[in-house]
Amino acid sequence: MIRKTIDRIRSSLLHLPMGAAARRRASGASVDSPSAPAAPGAILDCYASSAPSARNALEIFKGEWSSKLPEPLDDQGGKALLFDDKRVKWLLAQCGGVEGESVLELGPLEGGHSSMLERAGASEVIAVEANSRAFLKCLIIKELLRLQRVNFLYGDFVEYLRLPPSRFDLVVACGVLYHMRNPVELIALASAVTDRLFVWTHYYDEAILSAREDLAGKFPSHVKAEYGGFVHTLYRQEYRAALDWAGFCGGGHADSAWMSRDEILGCVRHFGLTEIETAFEAPDHVNGPSFAFFARRPDARAEAGAAGG
Ligand SMILES: C[S@@+](CC[C@H](N)C(=O)[O-])C[C@H]1O[C@@H](n2cnc3c(N)ncnc32)[C@H](O)[C@@H]1O
Repeated sequence: MIRKTIDRIRSSLLHLPMGAAARRRASGASVDSPSAPAAPGAILDCYASSAPSARNALEIFKGEWSSKLPEPLDDQGGKALLFDDKRVKWLLAQCGGVEGESVLELGPLEGGHSSMLERAGASEVIAVEANSRAFLKCLIIKELLRLQRVNFLYGDFVEYLRLPPSRFDLVVACGVLYHMRNPVELIALASAVTDRLFVWTHYYDEAILSAREDLAGKFPSHVKAEYGGFVHTLYRQEYRAALDWAGFCGGGHADSAWMSRDEILGCVRHFGLTEIETAFEAPDHVNGPSFAFFARRPDARAEAGAAGG
């Protein structure tokens, strides 16, 4: 496991195709031997030749940043406003803030939401990221922004939730549910470690998606499923060409399963988070219909009030 992780990080740093280090080791070549790099001299590309700077660090992943980075780094990232995200601001308004609270963040990507949660006063943000390139980008951001209370973990958040970890005051599952092969399991596991859950997700809507020429072909089939007593339908979604971009930020398989909006909300209720507020309804979203919700266990509000005196 650790060997595999090191291979992954090494592959990322050397810009080798994923698994190349493992393949070399299987063929008998030592990863520490001078002949290890796939292309002669490729290791030299890993050296910076100018004085240390934020730019140097960001350029390790040049062309792969999705987020618009905060000033003064803002000329180097992508376009998505993940460091100043209205969805997180809405979440903070819904839950009354996170001052002094523990937060579990699923799939931090580049640490934008993580940094917003720290700035909002969370006592601890555990952010679990499975994509090695995204994880390393998070570490760069952590260093550049001097984040103190965010702990980025490299691994699969479903496996993390299966451990199970300790409880959290809030779980943030933004942009991850529709990347799961078993989204109901994720909701079940998250509901088991918190009384408060935020989700932003795409969902399956037959009428909307079948009318979208660019998206309809990505959903070739559907199947009835059951998990934890919740019966539902899973619509297979295939990433296809999106997998060709090194900055790809979906799930760890070539496909995932989408659910209908009604069944997502029904599922959250089924696992006990029955007080639900919805927002950001976007049936015409470029990547497919999407919405957000904040869900809590009914007695969670009373308990928070009692704790606050
Ligand atoms: C679409 S991005 C969402 C990023 C951010 N949370 C947001 O809302 O903008 C999905 C992120 O989840 C990560 N991810 C997907 N499946 C994962 C898993 N099973 N465990 C950990 N991270 C995962 C991806 O690598 C990516 O960083």
